Amino acid sequence: MDKNSLTITDNRTNKSYEIPLVDGNIRTMDLRQIKKDPDDFGVMGYDPAFLNTASCRSKITYIDGDKGILRYRGYPIEELAESHTYLEVAYLLLFGELPAQAQRASWEDLVTHHRMLHETTKTFLEGFRYDAHPMTMLISTVAALSTVYHDARNIHDLESRRLNMVRLIAKMPTMAAYAYRHNLGFPYVYPDDLLTYTENFMTMLFKMVEPKYVAHPVLARALDILFILHADHEQNCSTNVMRSVGSSQADPFVCTAAAAAALSGPLHGGANEEVLRMLDEIGSKDHVPAFIEKVKGGKGKLMGFGHRVYKNYDPRARIIKQTAEQVFEVTGRNPKLDIALELERIALEDEYFVKRKLYPNVDFYSGLIYQAMGFRPEMFTVLFAIPRTVGWLAQWEELLLDSEQKIARPRQVFAGSELRHVAGFAERHAVPATR
Ligand code: CMC
Repeated sequence: MDKNSLTITDNRTNKSYEIPLVDGNIRTMDLRQIKKDPDDFGVMGYDPAFLNTASCRSKITYIDGDKGILRYRGYPIEELAESHTYLEVAYLLLFGELPAQAQRASWEDLVTHHRMLHETTKTFLEGFRYDAHPMTMLISTVAALSTVYHDARNIHDLESRRLNMVRLIAKMPTMAAYAYRHNLGFPYVYPDDLLTYTENFMTMLFKMVEPKYVAHPVLARALDILFILHADHEQNCSTNVMRSVGSSQADPFVCTAAAAAALSGPLHGGANEEVLRMLDEIGSKDHVPAFIEKVKGGKGKLMGFGHRVYKNYDPRARIIKQTAEQVFEVTGRNPKLDIALELERIALEDEYFVKRKLYPNVDFYSGLIYQAMGFRPEMFTVLFAIPRTVGWLAQWEELLLDSEQKIARPRQVFAGSELRHVAGFAERHAVPATR
């Protein structure tokens, strides 16, 4: 018997099956041979929310949740955040290696060249109400880009696919900045080719009537670090959506819009916005113990805490905390930092949180930095979506090139009615549509 296998005995039939282990895992399809009789469908895995199901083999991002390790293409996140730019890291995620000097320059030029939006996209944005949520504007506008780039459907053509990936990476900050200024009623600012990715973004956001806006170098670098930290995170909710929609061979613009929609939820990228609302609700450091008791009593969650994979400190949160100090030296300390620090201190000692391995995640401190830099909470998830676009695209291309992948289509365990036949109105027992 192969040692690299599991033996499963079906107690219904007393038959044993040898299931091979590949990289220490079974293929769930191998369970289908286990049947109680020849007409039986066979055993499936039942795993709501994918708690223990791998949906792909990936070479992009490695996480060890117990040890608090995050690596992109083998490189520790700490090293990348310390001495690289977001665009270098984007190149690494997409193509597998950090760029050499010449490649770096041509890659930066390429992305810079594609920052402009078609003027019709601007008109499209102008149609939103003045108070539209910027994340929803971004989601809709990314999808609308599909109406501009018809070649995006040629996903199996390498040249066309790569061009549209670059377009997405280049145009996300432009769309995000336009959404931001739309809310404020300010005119949109066109991209400036002489500026880096984050300097240009800050200019498109914050430039008023001065002839030249100069982004503070510490703030531009802090934003670049935050972009590196958010660039990819293996099979999280939005990446799973990107892969799932991508598996139907939809174009990358609509796939990215779908992934961004998943990111907007408060349990995922939308948590950074919720953290600020929570800190506002708590109001002062003295109210922290009472708030913690409320959470322990099942009334709400401690937003920015907990993670499906990290059961140790989120390494990104550690880097963000250091970055926050540098930002606050420029902007002044965000007064909510004291509430956040007190929450963290108490939660890290409290049995409820310790037992459940709940630690601050990437979203806990990022909002404090964004707020200190002048963003309203509604923009926070937009600031997550910009850099995550590269991760979505790297994972999407990996999926397309993976010969094992097919259209994503889970099974279900049917738990509804047995066969029954329609009756007249008098015999129906319908529940009201609203209660
Ligand atoms: N505050 C209080 N209790 C919590 C929290 C929290 N933030 N997170 C989890 N728990 C409790 C949960 O109630 C459960 O308790 P019990 O065992 O008594 O029922 C236990 O911890 C396990 O939680 P879970 O819901 O089974 O964990 P999950 O892996 O399904 O959820 C999570 C992970 C991130 C959705 C969740 O921790 C959460 O909702 N956190 C708050 C939202 C948040 O910060 N999200 C950002 C995640 S990181 C960035 C990203 O993905 O975008």
